Amino acid sequence: MSDPQSIRRIVLTGFMGAGKSTIGPLLAKHLNWDFVDTDNVVESRAGKKVAQIFAQDGEAAFRAIEAEVIRGCCGREGIVISLGGGAIETESTRELLARLEDTCVVFLDAPLEVLVARCLAQTNAEERPVLGDREKLLRRFSSRLAHYRNAHITVATPELAPDQVVDRILAEMPGIVPSRADF
Ligand code: S3P
Repeated sequence: MSDPQSIRRIVLTGFMGAGKSTIGPLLAKHLNWDFVDTDNVVESRAGKKVAQIFAQDGEAAFRAIEAEVIRGCCGREGIVISLGGGAIETESTRELLARLEDTCVVFLDAPLEVLVARCLAQTNAEERPVLGDREKLLRRFSSRLAHYRNAHITVATPELAPDQVVDRILAEMPGIVPSRADF
């Protein structure tokens, strides 16, 4: 990882239910940085929900838009970026994350059963096409783990409240510089 003082981007990764969309805004607020959830950008670019893109255009089409959106977001500074859980399946995204400077990639880790329980407890469970395909779920989870584990920082989330996750992340980057409005 770069020197914490030069970090200008934090990228949150992890499977569905990892807490990326909860932790991201909290972290961004703390740093007075922007926050972006790439699924939201994909949806506004496509003009439809992720589930509709999967159903009407297929997963490959979704992944192509997702990779382009991530590339765009990673060009910004002072930003926390929450990736969709499957974003790291795309090789070009993995390569981008590996070579991006001034960036800290954070893996929010939890066992699959915890992740599935969290997703099912949310009201938008039916909006997650990957969750519906239970047969493939374990295979997807296992094959993604090695990629998630390439992150600079891993935080095990099951025993932690969201604020504690944020504290753990920030503790790994002493000296990270918030935006000017915080001075
Ligand atoms: C997906 C995860 C979702 C979303 C899409 C595909 C996946 O994002 O990108 O439904 O392949 O795991 P979240 O991880 O934010 O739920």
